[in-house]
Order: sequence, then C-alpha cells, then structure tokens
Amino acid sequence: MRIKALSDHTGAEVRGIDLSCPVAPDTQATLAQAFLTHGVLVVRDQSLTPLQMLAAVRIFGSVFPQHNTRFAIPDCPEIHYISNQDRFADGRRYIPGEGWHTDHSNDPHPPKATVLHAVTLPSGGGDTQFANMAVAYAALPISIRERITNLMAIHVYQSSHSARQLMDLSNTSKERVPNAVIHPLVRTHPETGRQSIYINPIRIEGLLGLDHREALPLLDELLAHATRDEFQYRHEWQGGDLVIWDNRCLLHKANGDYDMAQTRYLYRVMLRGDRPPRNG
Ligand code: SIN
Repeated sequence: MRIKALSDHTGAEVRGIDLSCPVAPDTQATLAQAFLTHGVLVVRDQSLTPLQMLAAVRIFGSVFPQHNTRFAIPDCPEIHYISNQDRFADGRRYIPGEGWHTDHSNDPHPPKATVLHAVTLPSGGGDTQFANMAVAYAALPISIRERITNLMAIHVYQSSHSARQLMDLSNTSKERVPNAVIHPLVRTHPETGRQSIYINPIRIEGLLGLDHREALPLLDELLAHATRDEFQYRHEWQGGDLVIWDNRCLLHKANGDYDMAQTRYLYRVMLRGDRPPRNG
C-alpha cells in the first residue's frame, strides 16, 4: 500500500490495496492514522458492492444511521446513494450536497466521517471540494478567535437562513431527527486535539445569546474566511474512487456543474462520532 499527500494540508491518495479483501491489522492502523493526518483519504481502484463497502469502512469506525431514509439502498439500507437523478416534488432536480456543509451537524453526536464510493460518474465535473477548518481556524486573527471561542450554535435539520433546500425527511425519519441541537462554534477534535471552526450554513439557525443582526454577518464572515482557496482540496473523481473524510474538521460541497443528462451516482455511508465538547 502506498499513501501520497494530495496537498500540504488536506487529502492523501491510497493505492495498492483492495478493500474487498480482509485488511491486515497493521494496514488498518496505518489507514486509520492517515485518515487523522490528512482528513481526506482517496482510495483508488476499488469496485465494492454495498455489503463490501460496509465491511471495508469498519476499519475506520461503526456505521451511523443516516437521517433521511428515503435515500437508503433497499438491499443494504445502511448504505445510501447520492444521485443527480432525483427531483423535488415540484419537478426541480435535486443535487445532494451542493453548498458548503458538514454532515448531519443537527445530530447530538454528528457522524465523524462520511464515505463515498463512485459507481457512475459524469465524463467531467462533479468534483467534491473540501475546506480544512483546522487550518482556517489557525489562520484567524486572535481577536476573532477570542470572540468565537465560547460561542454556541443552534443546529436544525434545515436552517431558515440556508440558501440550499434539502429534500424533505421521509415520514419515518421525521420521528427520530432532533428538532435542534447546540454545538460549540469552535470544535476540539477528539483524536488530534486540534481546534476547528465548526459551522454549517445549511443547518445553523443562530448563535446562542446573539441577535441575528450580529450572528448572521459573523457566520458569513467565518464561512468566507474558512472556504478560501488556500484551505481547500478539490477532489476530481476517478472511476473506482472510495473517498472518506473527517466531518469534525472539514467542510465539503458537491458541484452540480456537469451535463445533467449524464448520471452521477455514488454509494454513501457515515460513521458514528462524538458529541462535540464545549470549550472552556
Ligand atoms: C455529500 O455532501 O455528502 C455529497 C458530496 C458529493 O456528492 O460530492
């Protein structure tokens, strides 16, 4: 197995491993450490069924039940799909994952990681961008770090301030998705100890104790800073890619910039995470 960094802060490519076969414990440990070091691992040349993907991701953790069961694959409901072929009830096309976000931050214990495996890709475009929130946090002026360090954010399924509309929850999902949860705006990574900005423009409804007139411009300012080009790794998908990323310290977004007559379809699974600790 060979691991090569894809940028100086985020992403590494993994070659020379077949995840459809059992992986030796020392190789599993190397992969788990590489995931923490690089935040995004791109494992090339895989061809996994949903069940094989489920077995492979256990190297990194246990499966998190995704909120919206409407995207579950019938034969293997722990695996969901990402597709550009679904539509809202009014006929508009739904592009999952467009707009910067971190996955399921409206859960008390948001998933630590998300894994996608490419099944069908368009001939060009459809990249996934990642922004490293730990590097972005470290680059903030001290005055802003001090201002945000003890702030708490209210996360909901769909923020009323979000520019992006999510697909409605299925009826079974509605019963188990919390109305609102509170998480710190600065999150300490439970395994690396690094601090990150923890924002989500799709889910954050407001900041505790701050008027929207103060909170919303602050969130906009943090997002603009955090998604600057120098904090990004942009993933151009190749057939056979399996990509795992760390939701605790990254934002990501999909790009619906390709010919929609072509299908983009990937398997998706998430892994259980911790409750983000309060600072101070
Ligand atoms: C996601 O947000 O989980 C999907 C990202 C993608 O489709 O590139």
